[in-house]
Amino acid sequence: MERNIIITGGAGFIGSHVVRLFVKKYPQYRIINVDKLTYAGNLENLADIEKEPNYVFEKADITDKTAIEAVFEKYKVDGVIHLAAESHVDRSITNPNEFIFTNVIGTATLLNAAVKFWKDNMQGKLFYHISTDEVYGSLDDGGFFTETTSYDPRSPYSASKASSDHLVRAYNNTYKLPVVVSNCSNNYGPNQFPEKLIPLAFNNIKNSKPIPVYGKGENIRDWLYVIDHASAIDTIFHKGKVGDTYNIGGNNEWTNIDLIRLLCKIMDQKLNRPSGESEKLITFVKDRAGHDLRYAIDSSKLQQELAWAPSVTFETGLEKTVEWYLQNSQWLNNIVSGTYEKYYEQQYNSR
Ligand code: NAD
Ligand code: DAU
Repeated sequence: MERNIIITGGAGFIGSHVVRLFVKKYPQYRIINVDKLTYAGNLENLADIEKEPNYVFEKADITDKTAIEAVFEKYKVDGVIHLAAESHVDRSITNPNEFIFTNVIGTATLLNAAVKFWKDNMQGKLFYHISTDEVYGSLDDGGFFTETTSYDPRSPYSASKASSDHLVRAYNNTYKLPVVVSNCSNNYGPNQFPEKLIPLAFNNIKNSKPIPVYGKGENIRDWLYVIDHASAIDTIFHKGKVGDTYNIGGNNEWTNIDLIRLLCKIMDQKLNRPSGESEKLITFVKDRAGHDLRYAIDSSKLQQELAWAPSVTFETGLEKTVEWYLQNSQWLNNIVSGTYEKYYEQQYNSR
């Protein structure tokens, strides 16, 4: 194999799209999916590529030094694309420690392994850390997040991601570890776990259940189709400047309420419901604690320096997403039972 690349969190939402892209596009690379399979990890996401000769799965917790070093040793790893994380803001509010363990200690464990195995020859190695726009805080007064915006994380999730970003850059400075970091806006698309706004709302609309909108639905997010995030990761992994940071975004801002209205409209059409039927399900509920008002990414550095651009408009991407969830109802049904029901009960019944 030309390269041996670990993709952490490859059984999750974004990770599975990145694994698929790399496995298919680069048959000369061995892709090692390292995932603990938490509630968010689902090997069903990769059923179509699991038998490819350049794909292997290693079940491991990124906080487990012995397990991670064993993977580095076994495959002579020369690249890491690090996506494994606890990723849901609401869960970070009820259980912050889980986020600190995985996102901070887990990232440090991977960095330590990379330094240990690569220290004698850093040539051709790369540690690519996938981060979020939430580390920059909330844009309450307009403007956009650029790569030089100061960090101002405001939830346990974003604080844990910010800590991991700092560690990655510190290892670059201190140990000369070749790193690159990207900070992306909200993703949507196939295989997203239905705790996140779009698949949760899809599932509730489909089942004629209330759609919980936090506060007044005025919060703004910048949405990017997950396939476009995967293509940006491919571009940055291969063309990004070592030591640099790249912001990734869709230039596509929506208030939550407008987004939900658009989703309702698409769902009415797809489910042959009278126009306006699904909107009746919109229910304003208690706001998220410390809810960031607006995120918006300036991705001009990535667009200009590395010639990346998103491939779909939001309307097209959302329609494709709805079609995927409708065609893959078994995938969704397998998730929204058992422990998911318990989570939903705890999260929404007191709101
Ligand atoms: P996800 O929650 O869908 O998947 C996370 C994956 O990581 C799961 O497969 C899970 O099993 C695995 N994992 C969790 N803890 C682990 C551990 N200790 N050891 C090994 N594996 C573990 O997450 P996602 O939405 O796909 O996000 C992936 C990455 O992208 C995260 O780092 C997240 O911060 C970042 N990100 C996400 C978004 C978004 O909108 N979803 C936007 C920007 C950045
Ligand atoms: O910005 C990037 C981040 O986007 C990623 O780093 C995170 O991993 C990812 O989860 C996402 O965070 P958000 O908190 O923005 O996503 P979420 O889908 O949870 O919520 C989107 C918006 O919708 C947010 O303003 C909260 C609101 N919301 C969410 C849920 C789950 C609701 O109004 N109702 C809900 O039930």
